[in-house]
Amino acid sequence: APSIVIAPSILAADFARLADAARAVEGAADWLHVDVMDNHFVPNLTIGLPVVQSLRKATPIPFDVHLMITDPERWAPGYAEAGAYNVTFHAEATDDPVALAKTLRAAGSRAGLAIDRDTDVTPYLELLPHFDTLLVMTIKAGFGGQKFLPETLDKVRAVRRHIDAGHLEVRLEVDGGIAADTVAAAAEAGADAFVAGTAVYGADDPAEAIRKLRALASA
Ligand code: DX5
Ligand code: ZN
Repeated sequence: APSIVIAPSILAADFARLADAARAVEGAADWLHVDVMDNHFVPNLTIGLPVVQSLRKATPIPFDVHLMITDPERWAPGYAEAGAYNVTFHAEATDDPVALAKTLRAAGSRAGLAIDRDTDVTPYLELLPHFDTLLVMTIKAGFGGQKFLPETLDKVRAVRRHIDAGHLEVRLEVDGGIAADTVAAAAEAGADAFVAGTAVYGADDPAEAIRKLRALASA
């Protein structure tokens, strides 16, 4: 596995040209981050399972599906069955994160747990052995193009300490406002997977933007 994962978010791409957006980052990105929103867990609506099923056929890039939805038990396994590499659901959206993680792994994907801006990560640290990915939101979930919140890095540091102390194999992902001027701080706090929407798809050359972020995160 690469030491650093860069996951461009198609939320910032042209939704009429998702296959082109995927191809534009092939060879440069490690994962393609797919933001699923239901206008209920967050006040915004994006795409769902049929689009992910179709897009899966259009590119070999591993999909990192980020479910910002209520009732993830109902929908998350479908994304695993559709061939997603990693399926992340929100801690705030379920009463039994471990059970859903087990379901996802049984369905063939990695399991991820996301922690939104206003949620304390402490109660979830003991659940980390059941997960492959822990996603710390560095904004409030719901929209791309928001400003990175440095105070969320305290959670990243706490998770990093816990992963290292327990020798756990868990990716520590950050999502929201990750760009050339913020990625190094997130890396220094202990993140090793970086979602970037605007910074990648807002750039003239998305692949070059990814290479730049990787260099800054690795420095
Ligand atoms: C927002 C999404 C993010 C979003 C990030 O809730 O989870 O993945 O695409 O966009 P930027 O990188 O523009 O902050
Ligand atoms: Zn996301």
